[in-house]
Order: sequence, then structure tokens, then C-alpha cells
Amino acid sequence: MGFKTIEWRKDGIRLLDQRRLPHHLSYLLCRNASSVAAAISGMAVRGAPAIGVTAAMGIALGAKRIKSAEPALFFRGVERICEQMSRTRPTAVNLFWAVNRMRKILDQGGTLGIEEIKRRLEEEALRIYEEDIEVNRRIGKYGKALIRKGDGVLTHCNAGALATAGYGTALGILRAAQEDGKWFRVFADETRPLLQGARLTSWELLQEKIPVTVITDSMAAWLMKRGEISLVLVGADRIARNGDTANKIGTYNLAVLAKWHGVPFYVAAPTSTIDLNLASGFEIPIEERDVKEVTHFQGRPVSPKGAKALNPAFDVTPQLLIKAIITEKGILRKPFVRGLKRIKAG
Ligand code: MRU
Repeated sequence: MGFKTIEWRKDGIRLLDQRRLPHHLSYLLCRNASSVAAAISGMAVRGAPAIGVTAAMGIALGAKRIKSAEPALFFRGVERICEQMSRTRPTAVNLFWAVNRMRKILDQGGTLGIEEIKRRLEEEALRIYEEDIEVNRRIGKYGKALIRKGDGVLTHCNAGALATAGYGTALGILRAAQEDGKWFRVFADETRPLLQGARLTSWELLQEKIPVTVITDSMAAWLMKRGEISLVLVGADRIARNGDTANKIGTYNLAVLAKWHGVPFYVAAPTSTIDLNLASGFEIPIEERDVKEVTHFQGRPVSPKGAKALNPAFDVTPQLLIKAIITEKGILRKPFVRGLKRIKAG
């Protein structure tokens, strides 16, 4: 892979600025926790696992920058940073999962001394980063069996190396299938309004020499009707206890279409995306973003002044429409409730 989405450096955290892709491959150096939080909410970095990894590094970086030698002040300062990271984006549970892992380091307590806690926070953030890449490779290993020679794979948004520490979840499966020498085609939904498919997935797949065809979101039904789609493969931002899955807005449309056309619909996600605290998708908080993302395109209005707009960033696909969930611990089939509990525990 010729690029790094997230990188821990001596002087800060370097993020590939995804707002500028595919035309500019440029990086953003965040030197403090506030700029990390701004990069997450402004979507310079995006994708559930990548958000989690970046937030963990943001906490480690913020802790490093605290000058106070007074333990109570230090711990309060780091806790404030944890809260700041938690406010950036509400849907992807990987964010809260990563913040909690960092809080557990803080819980190891004051007897260790501030410098040691800082060192452990950095170590934990780097561990979360490394683990994510390893987990994605394992998802790829399990998931590649679902891809057959000649398949047409439809994906939505970007669930690739750009959305993770590296390798990707849904796109990791495609990488693994390609590494096995399988030939297949990928259709990338453009993914309105921010075009993660048209801009990011197509760019990432082309880096890997995986053939990709960009389609508008409204073309999916017709392609399925024409028999060009063998399977749908997407990532996830949060999976409830029963298997209901939040992912980029428009994913639910695809799942309904897939059911009608008899096309299997798969979700690929690490176990850090599973939220056993929520009984069903109804409880998943859905991020509402600025409606200008809908009424404007590249800064210019496309709707008349006075037109209202909506901009929920995610939707929830009911588990009934999902054929299987591919995790780093194996492929889960229905009933998901049992499998999700088991793999989350073990
Ligand atoms: O708003 P985004 O771009 O952060 O949304 C990303 C997605 O919906 C991805 O499909 C999901 O996070 C999985 S990434 C491996």
C-alpha cells in the first residue's frame, strides 16, 4: 500500500486529508488534541475504525502535551480530552470503544506517575493501530471465500484502508481475493452527499489495480436487474445485538434492492464495531450533518435558496436483510444474536 491513512509521529499525528482526494494526496499534521478532534468531525479522517484509532492517538498526544506535574490536574485534563473526542461523531461505536480502552489505562492509576501514564497511553494507541491492521487482514482471510471468479461486487461508501489503520474491512476482503489471483469487478456507489465511493473507494482500488466502475447511487437497482451484481459488500459503523447494522446513508436502500433481486448482502466489520449494549438498530444514534452538504456541491449551491434539506449521515439495515457478517473471528450467519455475543465475549 503506497499511503498511510494515519501515522503517529514525534511531532504529532499525520493524517491523509481525505477531503482533498482524489486530486490531491496531501497530509495534515495535528499537533494537539483539539486539531485531532477537528480533523475527525470535519472528516479529514473518516470511517469507523480510523476514527477510533485517531481518537486514541489524539488522547495520547493530548496527554503528552499536558505540562502539569500535579496528578489531579493531569487526570482531569486527559479526561477532558476523552470527552472532546467522544463528541466528534456519534454513530461509529469504534470511537467510544477506543476512548474506553484509553480510559482503562488512566484507571491504572496515580501510583504509576504521570510520565509512565503518558508512555502507556502512547503504547495503547499504537497497539490499537497495529491491532486494527491485523484484524482487517483476518477479515480478509475469512471473507475472500465469498468472492468467486468473475463476480460483480457492489460496495457503498469507503470501507477500505482509508477508513481504517490499513488494509480495510470490505475492501480488505477484495484485496485478499485479489492476492489469491481471483478476477472480479467492483462497482462503487458514488455515495452522496460526500462522494466517498466516487472519490475514495475508486482511488483506493485503482492504487491496487482492482478494476472499479463508479455508478451513481440511483443506478444500483438497474444493475441488479441486469444481473451485473453478484453480491453487495459493505462496512459498518455500529452493529446492534440483534445484527441490525448502521452504515453510510444509502446502505439500507441497497439491502432492500438486494433482497428483491435475490443478491446476497454482506457486512464486513471488526468486533470493535459490535455494540452489545443496544438491543436493536432503533437505539443507534444517527449523526445529522450540515444540510449544506446536500444543497451545495463543492461550495456552490445546487438547490434554490429557501429549499429545505435533510442530511442523516447513516441509516440502519435491519438484520433480516443481511446474509452474513464477516468479522476477524469468522463469518456469522443467523441468528446473529448468538454469534455476536459469542465472538464479543471470546
Ligand atoms: O461518514 P463516514 O465516511 O465516516 O462513513 C463511513 C462508513 O459508513 C463506512 O462504511 C464505515 O465506517 C465502515 S469503515 C471500515
